[in-house]
Amino acid sequence: MSFFQENKNADFQEINKLLKAQCGIVDFFEIENDYTQLKQKIGIAQCVACEPRIEYGDFQTNRTLSLAITNYLFSKNINPQILIEPTCGKGSFILSALQTFNSLEQVFGIEIQETYLWELKFELLEYFLKNKTANKPEIHLYHHNIFDFDFQQINKQINGRELLVIGNPPWVTNATLSTLNSKNLPTKSNFKNVKGIDAITGKGNFDIGEYIALNMLDLFAKEKGNFAFLIKNSVIKNIVYEQKRNNYPISNLEKHIINAQKEFGAAVDASLFVCKFNTTPEWTAKEFDFYSSKSRVTLGWVNNKFASDTEKYKKYQQFDGVCPFEWRQGIKHDCAKVMELERIDGGFKNALNEEFELEEDLVYGILKSSDLQVDNIDTPRKYTIVTQKKIGQETKSILAKLPKTRDYLERHKNYFLQRKSSIYNGKPMYSIFGVGDYSFKPYKVAISGLYKQTKFTLVQPNGTVLLLDDTCYFIGFDTLEEAQAVQSSLNNPEIQEFIESFMFTDSKRAITKELLMRINFSSN
Ligand SMILES: C[S@@+](CC[C@H](N)C(=O)[O-])C[C@H]1O[C@@H](n2cnc3c(N)ncnc32)[C@H](O)[C@@H]1O
Repeated sequence: MSFFQENKNADFQEINKLLKAQCGIVDFFEIENDYTQLKQKIGIAQCVACEPRIEYGDFQTNRTLSLAITNYLFSKNINPQILIEPTCGKGSFILSALQTFNSLEQVFGIEIQETYLWELKFELLEYFLKNKTANKPEIHLYHHNIFDFDFQQINKQINGRELLVIGNPPWVTNATLSTLNSKNLPTKSNFKNVKGIDAITGKGNFDIGEYIALNMLDLFAKEKGNFAFLIKNSVIKNIVYEQKRNNYPISNLEKHIINAQKEFGAAVDASLFVCKFNTTPEWTAKEFDFYSSKSRVTLGWVNNKFASDTEKYKKYQQFDGVCPFEWRQGIKHDCAKVMELERIDGGFKNALNEEFELEEDLVYGILKSSDLQVDNIDTPRKYTIVTQKKIGQETKSILAKLPKTRDYLERHKNYFLQRKSSIYNGKPMYSIFGVGDYSFKPYKVAISGLYKQTKFTLVQPNGTVLLLDDTCYFIGFDTLEEAQAVQSSLNNPEIQEFIESFMFTDSKRAITKELLMRINFSSN
């Protein structure tokens, strides 16, 4: 099977040649249709293999890693009698568990892609043919969608026996699934119960893996046993964060960081999350490097505050409070192609490479996250058109006095009309967000929300006021002295350490308004 996987791009003639070299058989496939059918059966035909990968968050665990994981669990005296792999794929974890745990009596695997289950069945057959004396538990494999699978049928059979729920659930978010028009979602799709503006701005987004992990904890945390899931670090953070509310009877929470690029070719931060069921609830997790077992930090709750490094947090928690200033997010236009401009001789150029003239009245220099990697800045690379001075302001009369700007915007009206976010619904044409009196303060202390660096930048005017885009946060000031004092307080090493103690560098946005509003630097 793996031979065909490795050579899945070979055509009919090439595969016959490769097979002859491999085993001497001439014309292994006599007709092309036989080869096509086999490819479809084992799921390597192009149309079958590529499409579902995103929709099913399909990243199969390699056997070296799954075996290292089962061996690690065994080293912790985990000896399950029952094993559940809720989205088992080709069954790496099931096969590794069979090799590791002699104690197994029953194994349950569920998977939506049937071809994977076939592959697993052949692998299991081969394993037991080769290992005649191996412990042989009863194995149940279900070709089923986990979202409507009846776990009660498994639950009923546990009967107080030692359980291990193990696996690697799909790596995909509900947001990606909705762009694919995919139905591979739990019926309770707003399971975070997010409402209003939070729902619009994506606070209700979740990883399918998070939903499945929490579902497993709901179903099985009361049983005797353990949980071991490969999941994104952001999901682990959410599980520990929500543990205060959920209070699952889980303890010995561990996060073992893996190299997802090396193991899965995926640019995400992921770890093995392990915990023990049926114990007094704990609200912190110890972090390790999976490969070296080196201990790192502990993340989780310190009294009522959540920290990425609880020890460091305890040292600097006197700075945890309410920021004396209001942090603001920069300008949002969702129209980069026509609203991100460069100055050229005698005019401007947009991202469509069009050159044109504008009146200067509404043009402002704008800084992006990438511009904030310095201590001080007063020169913009980009410019934008600020169509409103405050949110919701009508734009018609402003533009009536500026024919070049009005014509430019009208020529590109469709870009504005096609903006997906519902915040623009019912708002004046060419509306922007994140704008108010604060935007036009001459001096600013700013930080990027996209980068992981915690240093603050001083933004100064250069003829005109500089603005920031919506990937940045800032406080505005009327005087240079005030701005310099605040920048210096925030860049003080103690405050920097404090920020590091509760910032999660593997979140998509490590720096958020909530985080910044927690820094009480007046007590510095
Ligand atoms: C990240 S892969 C991991 C597979 C396997 N657990 C492993 O560790 O190799 C996720 C698996 O979930 C399966 N899957 C996705 N959506 C599913 C669903 N709704 N029900 C059951 N399985 C699903 C995918 O087909 C894929 O095999």
